[in-house]
Amino acid sequence: MNFWTTLPKPFFVLAPMEGVTDVVFREIVALCLPKPDVFFTEFTNIDGLNSEGKKATLTRLKLTKSQHPVVAQLWGTRPDHMEKSAALCAKLGFDGIDINMGCPDRAVMKSGGGSALINTPSIAADLIRAARAGAKQLPVSVKTRIGVNTINTDEWISFLLQQNIDVLTVHGRTAKQKSDVPANWEEIGKAVRIKNEIAPHTLVVGNGDIESVESGQSMMERHGVDGIMVGRGIFHNPWVFEKNTSIHTKEEYLTVLRKHVELYTKTWGEGKNFDVMKKFFKMYVNSFPGAAEYRAKLMECKTPAEVYQLL
Ligand SMILES: Cc1cc2nc3c(=O)[nH]c(=O)nc-3n(C[C@H](O)[C@H](O)[C@H](O)COP(=O)(O)O)c2cc1C
Repeated sequence: MNFWTTLPKPFFVLAPMEGVTDVVFREIVALCLPKPDVFFTEFTNIDGLNSEGKKATLTRLKLTKSQHPVVAQLWGTRPDHMEKSAALCAKLGFDGIDINMGCPDRAVMKSGGGSALINTPSIAADLIRAARAGAKQLPVSVKTRIGVNTINTDEWISFLLQQNIDVLTVHGRTAKQKSDVPANWEEIGKAVRIKNEIAPHTLVVGNGDIESVESGQSMMERHGVDGIMVGRGIFHNPWVFEKNTSIHTKEEYLTVLRKHVELYTKTWGEGKNFDVMKKFFKMYVNSFPGAAEYRAKLMECKTPAEVYQLL
């Protein structure tokens, strides 16, 4: 079943974010905050899923029943591993498979994965075919950028759209630009025009710098995208997927923070480095008077119990 075709327009997607959109954070968003129409996992390496270390990699593919529809994002370069990983994700209960062709990380690109695939289109095409073969009836999507060192929308996006994908997410920056410059929505609009011509059945999701449902709506009206993907916007406003924006109280923020710490501890155990959790503190303790001093105290906590005492 292709769930993407059943979504409203524009639909809103929580972006895949390494170290952020794990099963715990997705659960907090699903149960305690306004829910996006689609969730993505963190990117997960297909060689890891086909190696001795499989068990550790599999923790990235945990999911719960509150988090649907959820797409497993995979990265790597070996079609045989892609096919097996896509089949595994289908078995685990994911609703779709996404291939990462946009990561600008140096190590990822050096291995030929992420954005480096923009320079090796025949491997990209093999990976899409392999994901389709493994995913069977599940939809297959690609998330990419508009080029590596320079903008290459015409050639690269046209190529991808000839590969029979269900959804294409376009992050409006080159790999070289990382997140350093404003996203180029004109190029995302160009991607939509290309798809209207050569692959009208494919949905295009625009990504870059969207901070509210309202601005997502206006980008849809201006550029014709089917959906909007939001990444860092959720750090600035946990209620970013709220349809009618409202002011949220300190108590509301701290209630969600407490639930997040509780679920983090319940899921990963006290043993897991608690400092990893602290990157979320700024998201919850930021927007009310005295937040900076309060956050500084929270950052000194070494255990969940110390955090609860301050809440
Ligand atoms: C902390 C962090 C981790 C990310 N990890 C991934 C990832 O695993 N896979 C991916 O495709 N993009 C990843 N991205 C990129 C985002 O999905 C998104 O494309 C980018 O942040 C631009 O959208 P935004 O302006 O709404 O944040 C990551 C971004 C951030 C900030």
